[in-house]
Amino acid sequence: MSVALNQFPEQISPMLLKHGGVGIGPLLPEDTGALFVWTNDIEAQGLDQSYRPVDGVAFSTWLSTFASDHSRVLFAIRVAGNAAIAGYLMLSNIHPVNRCADLGIRVGREADRGRGIGTAATALGLDYAWTHLGLTRVQLRVLASNGRAVRAYERAGFRIEGRHARAAYIAGAWHDMLSMAAIRPGATES
Ligand SMILES: CC(C)(COP(=O)(O)OP(=O)(O)OC[C@H]1O[C@@H](n2cnc3c(N)ncnc32)[C@H](O)[C@@H]1OP(=O)(O)O)[C@@H](O)C(=O)NCCC(=O)NCCS
Repeated sequence: MSVALNQFPEQISPMLLKHGGVGIGPLLPEDTGALFVWTNDIEAQGLDQSYRPVDGVAFSTWLSTFASDHSRVLFAIRVAGNAAIAGYLMLSNIHPVNRCADLGIRVGREADRGRGIGTAATALGLDYAWTHLGLTRVQLRVLASNGRAVRAYERAGFRIEGRHARAAYIAGAWHDMLSMAAIRPGATES
């Protein structure tokens, strides 16, 4: 992980969890512009699924439901020394019986990718899932061709569970997808 291990300045936006120079915490009102732009980033969305534009009204509605929806948690990712949002991480489909959830993450700007931010934030998301939500399994699906994402997830604690042939049709081409999951360390069979 190549992010500098700086101390967080005291005045940085509220942080829940920190790993070296990366933190995840609540979204602030000033984060929503960047979040809206990233949600509509056709290149980054193409690394995940086929592109559909998200309009402003639908986006505001989506954001406004988080506070009352206990099946989802949304975090802003921030880097030490910079109060601006660097990305977001979401746990969704939080299941109270199966004690599992889906994880999604985006580092917003290409210039910030490949610097260890995604690995650190994913590890923080898993830590939150185990420690604060009492989950034992977190899962995701990723394009098999997205080596950077697969590597970051593996470094954070995910393992590949299976491959799904021609599972995604994106921008005119079929892609295989991988199922990945992380299991809470020390989780027993019970
Ligand atoms: C996927 C994403 C969250 C990962 O975060 P990140 O900060 O870029 O990743 P990190 O820098 O923490 O880790 C990337 C790792 O992949 C490695 N890597 C980079 N390019 C690679 C490639 N083409 N193939 C394999 N590994 C690669 C890096 O060396 C690093 O591994 P290391 O720590 O062992 O050196 C981020 O890149 C992102 O948001 N991308 C755009 C959208 C996207 O791909 N979404 C995936 C949806 S499932």
